[in-house]
Amino acid sequence: MQAWCARPAWAAAAATLLLASAVPPAAAAIVEEGEYSTLWGKDGEFWKPDGRLPDFSFAGYKQGNEPLPSPLVTRSILDFRQPGMNDTAMFAAAFDWANSQPLQEEGYLVLGIPAGSYSLESRFYIRRSRTIVRGAGRGATILNFPKSLSQLYGPSPAEIPGGYVNAGAFISLEGSPRVLGPLLAEVSEPANKGDTSVRVMDASQLAVGQYVDVWFDGEWELPEKYANNTQVKLTTKIVDIQDDVVTFERHLPYSIEPGFVNDVAIRALPDTVHDSAVEGLTFAFAWELYGGHHLEKGWCAVEFHDVYNCWARNIGTINADNTVVINGAFGITVSDVLIERTASRQNSIPNNFSEPANYDGHWGLSLQHAAPCSHL
Ligand SMILES: *[C@@H]1O[C@H](CO)[C@@H](O)[C@H](O)[C@H]1NC(C)=O
Ligand SMILES: *[C@@H]1O[C@H](CO)[C@@H](O)[C@H](O)[C@H]1NC(C)=O
Ligand SMILES: *[C@@H]1O[C@H](CO)[C@@H](O)[C@H](O)[C@H]1NC(C)=O
Repeated sequence: MQAWCARPAWAAAAATLLLASAVPPAAAAIVEEGEYSTLWGKDGEFWKPDGRLPDFSFAGYKQGNEPLPSPLVTRSILDFRQPGMNDTAMFAAAFDWANSQPLQEEGYLVLGIPAGSYSLESRFYIRRSRTIVRGAGRGATILNFPKSLSQLYGPSPAEIPGGYVNAGAFISLEGSPRVLGPLLAEVSEPANKGDTSVRVMDASQLAVGQYVDVWFDGEWELPEKYANNTQVKLTTKIVDIQDDVVTFERHLPYSIEPGFVNDVAIRALPDTVHDSAVEGLTFAFAWELYGGHHLEKGWCAVEFHDVYNCWARNIGTINADNTVVINGAFGITVSDVLIERTASRQNSIPNNFSEPANYDGHWGLSLQHAAPCSHL
């Protein structure tokens, strides 16, 4: 399985270090000497704000500045069971109700799923901010899915040749694609990569403590194939404002070149789903041989699409094609995930597209069009 593929550079360095300690002492010195990156060093001593290695230390929920919220359960999913209703209909009623509740200024809607096994033949969406679906813990609340997405819905409309590769899951946290937040300020002077301050024309719509998106989109002529398919932005907190000089918590990842000052804009975060989560559940899929790379049948647990500051924690999958896919999202934390199978799903059965099937699944965790996300 291609699990946990987007690892921060320092994690790779730490893993190398552990291996180095297992080799004989004479060789160890050479290996250790040779393994540290000149971009990072041993403990970050070579890292520079204007260097090639991005700063990953602001990954995850609210850039790692705040712990994940743990509000109490507000409603049990069992409240939605009418006489004669099966689990699928009960879940559908609960998700429909949750998604249709108006947002309050503060406060979360937490749907509790008590310990037990539930049999589900549908996919479900979280399309509301501050909405958490919480089981009684991984291994205690078990969602059984006897049918794959392709059995329920046919081939994936998002992919050719119809495999559930990068889109589609049984629980989707789904926001609005490609929305820009309102323009708050325009940059007025060049700045260097690695700087934390920029001068703006008018800072009156900005406030200390606010998170903003700094969009660099106009700075490059992108090839047509990337048009509308990139997010060249820095999401960061404002830590100081002095007249028209705004200081961010994070370093600028790109220079603001003299000819492109007008193309850099500070915007509010987009109006899309945020602060929602899936927690404390195991997704148990019916065992099936793996369908083949890009021919996945859709045994997919959780996806985050076009949302921000959301999380999945204490979840597990059994016999999954994909466990967590993050797409077009930022500020996502994924923690405490267990990926299991009941028996090997690998096979060498030829398929129409000559795609290999000698894996147990596709993505353990995938980040696509996604700004700093963390997974622990
Ligand atoms: C569950 O109930 C719904 C609504 O009555 C029905 O359409 C569906 O077929 C049922 N599912 C199963 C697996 O029995
Ligand atoms: C990109 O988005 C803009 C604005 O929504 C639109 O006018 C343009 O046609 C899009 N370009 C492509 C290649 O989709
Ligand atoms: C793959 O081949 C089988 C057997 O020939 C056929 O039934 C099936 O429709 C084909 N699937 C696709 C996606 O082409």
